[in-house]
Amino acid sequence: MRKQIAAANWKMNKTLQEGQSLLNDILSADLSVGENQEVLFAVPFPYLIEANNIVSNRKNIFVTAQNCHHKTSGAYTGEVSVGMLTSIGIQYCLVGHSERREYFAESNQMLAEKVDLCLASSITPVFCCGEPLSIRDADTQNQFVEEQLKESLFHLDAAAIQKVVIAYEPIWAIGTGRTASAEQAQEMHAHIRLSLTNQYGEAIAQEISILYGGSVKGSNASELFSMKDVDGGLVGGASLIASEFVQIINALK
Ligand code: 13P
Repeated sequence: MRKQIAAANWKMNKTLQEGQSLLNDILSADLSVGENQEVLFAVPFPYLIEANNIVSNRKNIFVTAQNCHHKTSGAYTGEVSVGMLTSIGIQYCLVGHSERREYFAESNQMLAEKVDLCLASSITPVFCCGEPLSIRDADTQNQFVEEQLKESLFHLDAAAIQKVVIAYEPIWAIGTGRTASAEQAQEMHAHIRLSLTNQYGEAIAQEISILYGGSVKGSNASELFSMKDVDGGLVGGASLIASEFVQIINALK
């Protein structure tokens, strides 16, 4: 049975002290994290070790990196390698967030390299995909997202693809308050699962968690997560407010 996941993406927000109190507030709330559920906190690099200490004795709660470099090591000033992440006990990493693709020119090919490096180090990549508004307006979002999957994930074999989490984040819904409707989310998630089925077969496709991201809030999480192929959310703004994120965690199915 595939996992249901609530993932916080803090992006470039919060000081260390603010982050510590946010985490503590969330962890001290009345959380119901079931056997088949996980909570991820993608925090800025300088907080990974401290955040990992804070969640260390909590079951099914994991600290996540927001990015990693696509080479193993070397003269890449300012970058962070997958080896560095594993050396501090990190087990998850976001790969290919649309903000990285847009502002840091991350290509599908580069993301394929990041996915490979993560998997080689037993880090679960949370692979982000999703279309800009122009593609949605042209109604070609299915082909667009399928291309992202093909170019960054479909070189993986059947064993490897099952270790990937996919996050569908339509760019027009990120930070805009304009959430995709539950039906729009389900439609794309079903399409992603169909692409996985065509590539890897039904049994494997059914085991892969597909998260929705884009203006998820406490008030809309239950409806989004109730959709058949929506296995949780990747949350930006609302994950910075303890009460909101607690509500989102408790909305997991
Ligand atoms: P918002 O929840 O702020 O729309 O951000 C979504 C996102 O980009 C999560 O990675």
